[in-house]
Amino acid sequence: MCRIILVLLLIVILIIGYVWWKPTAGGTNPEVLPVVLWHGMGDTCCAPFSLGGIMDLIVEETKGGYVRSMEIGGNILLDFQSGFFLHPNEQVEYVCKQLLQDERLAKGYNAIGFSQGGQFLRAVAQRCPTPPMRTLVTLGGQHQGVFGLPMCPTLSESTCDYISRLLNSAVYSDEVQRNLVQATYWHDPLMENHYRLGSTFLADINNELYLNEFYIENLHKLKKFVMVKFLNDTIVQPKESQWFQFYTSGQDKVIQPFKESKTYQDLRLKKMEDEGKLVFLGVEGDHLAISKAWFIKNIVPLLLEN
Ligand SMILES: *[C@@H]1O[C@H](CO)[C@@H](O)[C@H](O)[C@H]1NC(C)=O
Repeated sequence: MCRIILVLLLIVILIIGYVWWKPTAGGTNPEVLPVVLWHGMGDTCCAPFSLGGIMDLIVEETKGGYVRSMEIGGNILLDFQSGFFLHPNEQVEYVCKQLLQDERLAKGYNAIGFSQGGQFLRAVAQRCPTPPMRTLVTLGGQHQGVFGLPMCPTLSESTCDYISRLLNSAVYSDEVQRNLVQATYWHDPLMENHYRLGSTFLADINNELYLNEFYIENLHKLKKFVMVKFLNDTIVQPKESQWFQFYTSGQDKVIQPFKESKTYQDLRLKKMEDEGKLVFLGVEGDHLAISKAWFIKNIVPLLLEN
């Protein structure tokens, strides 16, 4: 059922793609640090009404700076599907290779991740220090995962039930972890140990299972780590995950203070905080509801700092 709806969506996207497709990169001004974008779930790299439009905006506002929007898998179909079905570890590896091969990024780049693209880009920073990422901006990223059904409002009830059953029953089984991207950052606070042992992506990049010093070292190389939270988000549950916070273990109502969380310790975020590298921005509106004016005022200056 879920697949049928996705296939229909794909056909629509394919048609739109042929009519309006945009290149994955733009701008050539060598004076401005390049910008790398990573789209969210259910989106693709370059649709004009989505990231293609953001690319144009950044090129314009940075006087022709180089912008590269990641297309996972090399074509629009794979790019769309990978947001649901290609394991984040494989996606991150793919993106790391693309970044390494892009000579224009050799001296470094800034990165902007949209929704799940936010935590995926953080994984790029932690796993792939070359070329160097300078500032990471995550827009509605889920740094502590989700416990709720982000895709449900846009899917039919039966599809929603199906995904819900998968997530709730066997989310940390090998099979579901392998086949559903969202399962890899599903964070069940009622089964914290299952999460730590079973999450094949988020628990790893958050150093939940064992302390990976390489991740800490690389994350700390960032000049700034900017987390944007949508204050009226109805998709990301809990909203606080966008600011790297989560429920206190054992229940799903109360949010644990940031500084008390295990990940705050395990990624040594205090050090980044003390160095003024962590920036928390809040914006009114639902998930990814960014206005052009807000983007120009709050995000563009970050891209021009380096
Ligand atoms: C959005 O959330 C903020 C913070 O919780 C609140 O002050 C504001 O009234 C909300 N806006 C809308 C339109 O619901």
